[in-house]
Amino acid sequence: MKRALTTGVTGQDGSYLTELLLSKGYEVHGIIRRASTFHTERIDHLYQDPHLRGTRLFLHYGDLSDSVTLVKLLNELKPDEIYHLGAQSHVRVSFDIPEYTADINAVGTIRILEAIRQAGVRPRFYQASSSEMFGKVVEIPQRETTPFHPRSPYGVSKVFAFWATVNYRESYGLFAANGVLFNHESPRRGETFVTRKISRAVAHIKAGLQKKVYLGNLEAKRDWGYAPEYTEAMWLILQQDSPDDYVIATGETHSVQEFCEEAFGLVGLDWRRYVELDQRYLRPAEVDVLMGDPSKAKKRLGWEPKVKFKELVKIMVEADVKALEDRLAGKVPAVEDERP
Ligand code: NAP
Ligand code: GDD
Repeated sequence: MKRALTTGVTGQDGSYLTELLLSKGYEVHGIIRRASTFHTERIDHLYQDPHLRGTRLFLHYGDLSDSVTLVKLLNELKPDEIYHLGAQSHVRVSFDIPEYTADINAVGTIRILEAIRQAGVRPRFYQASSSEMFGKVVEIPQRETTPFHPRSPYGVSKVFAFWATVNYRESYGLFAANGVLFNHESPRRGETFVTRKISRAVAHIKAGLQKKVYLGNLEAKRDWGYAPEYTEAMWLILQQDSPDDYVIATGETHSVQEFCEEAFGLVGLDWRRYVELDQRYLRPAEVDVLMGDPSKAKKRLGWEPKVKFKELVKIMVEADVKALEDRLAGKVPAVEDERP
């Protein structure tokens, strides 16, 4: 039985990846941060599964700021594969907390890579790299050879982590690989990312519980894919004969406004009546357009996206509508939108 260690196990991708690894027979160890409230709702269904509990999914307290614990865990667990997904992952927030973002995303990656060396283990290592590294893009579509020009402290931190991964591969012969993933979404997407903010607002507005949704730049364009498919690509990247870096994307790009049109349209509403601009959601520097070329992944990994834009919007809106209906049926009070 293969053993995987995952950082960011409580996040969107961590939860889908854990499902995938368990379905493939892995023993999965996840690192979670201590919080004053529960924050494991995305993996509770796995952790509480009586068939798995205490046998194949294990959670360990740790933090990417704490190298001692990382070394200790690697020594104890000696994993075959490490999926490093933990990060301060919000781009706009990274302008508010740049030092923290750099510490967790950039130095945190070095901490894990060094912990691997200190512990004297040889796991395969996956780094959650990002299309945000392309930033002010020099070509469309972006591919593995496209130069980086990050536009946020988050993007800068991910460029550092990308090159740290390459450097440990070249310096120490580690099987260390980057997945350069374009935006990927799902019903488990954090509520402050734009797609989920919109799909959630559509559900609340349709139910008469919210009047408006306040957004920033509607013109930004993103290459949005479906998260479960992207975690499959992560796994494939670590199953290859040699480590390499791959762009994972749909090859399509759509604006935030198109997402609004489609999402509101699905419940028969005109988005223009409900979407308002709020300057707070604008960024000091914006990434105007992202569109990836996944042809290397298709050729080498046999990976191809199946869910495209319209189906993705439908999946997210239907999930939020249903979740709200279930909550209301259970008489749980609905929470008003409006988060930072
Ligand atoms: P997410 O939902 O925001 O999850 C981030 C995870 O990192 C959470 O489990 C979080 O734990 C954990 N984390 C944050 N700070 C930490 C710390 N100091 N120590 C340990 N863990 C910490 O992000 P995601 O969408 O799943 O993305 C996964 C990874 O892929 C991230 O590295 C992200 O930057 C990268 N990425 C994402 C996309 C995308 O479109 N989703 C695209 C490219 C790259 P808590 O639950 O305790 O907050
Ligand atoms: N979050 C947010 N909130 N974004 C908004 C809003 C709003 O109210 N209004 C407009 N936007 C625009 C942002 O300015 C950006 O251009 C676009 O919507 C997408 O924003 P996010 O959903 O926050 O995602 P992101 O592209 O900045 O970052 C995500 O994708 C990266 C991959 O390219 C994150 O998941 C990153 O962790 C990931 O690396």
